[in-house]
Amino acid sequence: MAGQIELYPDGSATALREAIASVHGLNPANIVCGNGSDDLLALLARSYLQPGDEGIYSEHGFLVYRIQILAAGATPVIAPERNERADVDALLAAVTDRTRMVFLANPNNPTGTYLPFEEVRRLHAGLPKHVLLILDAAYAEYVRKNDYEAGIELVSSAQNAVMTRTFSKIYGLAGLRLGWMYAPAAIADVINRVRDPFNVSAAAIAAGAAAMHDRAHVERAVAHNEQWLGWLTKEFSALGLRVTPSVGNFLLVHFPGGKHSAEQADRFLLDRGYILRRVAAYGFPDALRMTVGSEEANRGVVETLSTFLKA
Ligand SMILES: Cc1ncc(COP(=O)(O)O)c(C=O)c1O
Repeated sequence: MAGQIELYPDGSATALREAIASVHGLNPANIVCGNGSDDLLALLARSYLQPGDEGIYSEHGFLVYRIQILAAGATPVIAPERNERADVDALLAAVTDRTRMVFLANPNNPTGTYLPFEEVRRLHAGLPKHVLLILDAAYAEYVRKNDYEAGIELVSSAQNAVMTRTFSKIYGLAGLRLGWMYAPAAIADVINRVRDPFNVSAAAIAAGAAAMHDRAHVERAVAHNEQWLGWLTKEFSALGLRVTPSVGNFLLVHFPGGKHSAEQADRFLLDRGYILRRVAAYGFPDALRMTVGSEEANRGVVETLSTFLKA
């Protein structure tokens, strides 16, 4: 591939779709790849929402949904969460005659909380048939819970549900921009007609196909995450900081406020080379989101916050 970059990529990303299909046991015809899963979320919103329509997402849900609903000229509707977790009853209560789309990140960013599959099923069962349920499973590979399912089963048996996935998280290919979607044939057909003809680069196709088959990498990354997610949760709690229970590769850490506000903590960490993320726009003015890092980085953040809290 490196010797052939004068050539356009395969516009159907066939090798990549086949690699994904073989690992996940899917029909490649139902897979569409995108320039990051953000690309697919945008294409879905643009294809299925218009002015006057409503798109629902949950209170602390991933903010790209809001952006894409607004970009499509539609109206965002926010369903309240319960205990920093999406609430199926609230999502269903937010449905009106104008609703066309419901976005659910499972697990969600930035909370790290998830809905058991029975709850996702209940959500889908309660939606009118003309409402499209988008299950964003960007962090699915990290989840080690018996009651979790990313959405493959549901999409396989429904006409109004899709699942989006990404190579940006567990595969560590965020800079290449690569995501994929598993969708019923009719929806895959629509997205294939409106997407850019070469929306995935040759480098992303080659790297994604190779990454898909590198199961040892996925296992290593999951094991590292399990170990350090638990360790970080314990250490932050011991410092007196509340941590939202996470099944992803990041933690939402809550600060007490006053001189120990999230803003002050963020500045203190940044000055010492640690980049966490402020999440005020997500309704958490006094929290920071931390992605699980290397052992050195994880220990460094805990030590730095311990110093910060004593000051
Ligand atoms: C829940 C969720 N969905 C989608 C994305 C977008 O991922 P991508 O890099 O595939 O566009 C992210 C990235 O942060 C995310 O957290």
